[in-house]
Amino acid sequence: MKCDVLTLFPDILTAYLNESILKRARDKNLLDVKLYNIRDFASGPHRTVDDSPYGGGSGMVFKPEPVFRAVDFIKEDGELRKVILLSPQGKPYNQSMAEAYSREKKRFVFICGRYEGIDERVKTLVDEEVSIGDYVITGGELAALVIIDAVTRLIPGALGDEKSVEDESFSWGLLDYPHYTRPREFRGMQVPEALVSGNHKEIWLWRRREALRKTLKKRPDLIEKVELTDLDKKILSEIKASEDA
Ligand code: ADE
Repeated sequence: MKCDVLTLFPDILTAYLNESILKRARDKNLLDVKLYNIRDFASGPHRTVDDSPYGGGSGMVFKPEPVFRAVDFIKEDGELRKVILLSPQGKPYNQSMAEAYSREKKRFVFICGRYEGIDERVKTLVDEEVSIGDYVITGGELAALVIIDAVTRLIPGALGDEKSVEDESFSWGLLDYPHYTRPREFRGMQVPEALVSGNHKEIWLWRRREALRKTLKKRPDLIEKVELTDLDKKILSEIKASEDA
């Protein structure tokens, strides 16, 4: 994944990009992130990036000029880009968007808003407006990191262990199954027999059953969306029957 992030607070991103999986992905050139401080593109002695809203009201609005200048500057190299504005009004981000982004050939530009909002004319620069959920956070930086993180995990080689992503049950469209590690018994709580059986088929089946059970209980809306196999349907009816009993 290649991206440019326009922000007033590059340090917020630097900290996260320099740890763990994202750092390793950058070291392996699987992830390329360039940070641009929007204030560097503002004019005047104070490099002002915000102003009061036309029509009155509280709060400040992100001025259009610095953002247009930053985007013009970034685009000078002629590379094909997809410009994404992070905002609570955007399309809700989910795993299928992360998968689509991981296949995207274009370089991403993430515009991180702040203040009460961004001058509406900035939207003429934007290909897609994306939200990370129905709540308002202080700025788009965390949202850009969420998007970059979820995409990076899907890039082959980024996790080190190729199997991990396929095993993540969200890639099945379900919630995750329970995990256990040593010791086998802890404060009277046992690790389920199937997981210590050494039988891969039995382990896979236990995980699938538990992922289905958890999803049915906590997020039945996801069950509606996922493509269920005949085996899944059988497992689900067994789960429902055992819970009715
Ligand atoms: N900026 C503020 N809130 C946001 C949200 N929920 N998603 C993306 N960007 C945001």
